[in-house]
Amino acid sequence: MKIAISGKGGVGKSTISSIIIETFAEMGKKVLAIDSDPSPHLARLLGFEHTERITPIAEMNELLAERSERQGAFYNLNPKVDDLPEKFMLERDNIKLMVVGAIQKGGGGCACAENAVLRNLVNSLLLNPQEVIVMDMEAGVEHLGRGTIQSVDHLLTVVQPYKGSIETARKIKKLADDLGIKTLKVIGNQVAGREDEDFIEQELGMRPFFSIPFSPEIRSAERKGLRVYSYVPDTIKNIIKNALSTLQKS
Ligand SMILES: Nc1ncnc2c1ncn2[C@@H]1O[C@H](COP(=O)(O)OP(=O)(O)OP(=O)(O)O)[C@@H](O)[C@H]1O
Ligand SMILES: [Mg+2]
Repeated sequence: MKIAISGKGGVGKSTISSIIIETFAEMGKKVLAIDSDPSPHLARLLGFEHTERITPIAEMNELLAERSERQGAFYNLNPKVDDLPEKFMLERDNIKLMVVGAIQKGGGGCACAENAVLRNLVNSLLLNPQEVIVMDMEAGVEHLGRGTIQSVDHLLTVVQPYKGSIETARKIKKLADDLGIKTLKVIGNQVAGREDEDFIEQELGMRPFFSIPFSPEIRSAERKGLRVYSYVPDTIKNIIKNALSTLQKS
């Protein structure tokens, strides 16, 4: 199953991605986590050390060229997660983490090449039923190119109950509609109660798939640079676990 997590800047995509990744791992899934934000934070949220040792997948281009000379196009070989070279990932228990890793260049440099590698990788990887890919996407909608999100089984959009975040979600919904993606789901973050969920539903025409409240534990763990999941209250863990267990491969 392939899942992408999108939404406006700062709404909690990476935080929620890290909890989803750890929840799947705890459920016994093998998770390939992909941080596709140009300024990656997921490694820290997941509590990985030695993040400097990871080679961004943008640099896979060289490897791909090398492999295609020797044995035909890598992407035509139906690569499996286990075939991916270790230098591109950090690994712990059931979690492998890759970063797309475009370093933001002055002058608004485009991360097009990196996104092409990501798209090819996500499209071509063959997963077994125990494997899940979770992608923490860059903020906004611009990067949500056809290729990458069209191949995901679930596009999750994080919103907070305020207009600005809903507007971005609306754009993502429109894009998903245009592309014929029927698996868009909304996740409510920092939702205080039913009234907030009603607001999201009224504005977007979709009730959140799940919602979590503001959590002082999450905030304080992030501030200290700790592995967030270890501090997430059980009530929130259970909300997310119950929701994820209903997700099917489309
Ligand atoms: N439910 C929550 N309770 C408390 N704090 C939260 C919650 N969700 C997110 N935060 C905090 O909000 C801030 C932004 O969250 P996060 O980095 O996950 O957002 P993002 O959408 O990934 O941002 P960006 O667009 O910059 O990638 C972080 O400090 C995080 O700890
Ligand atoms: Mg983020």
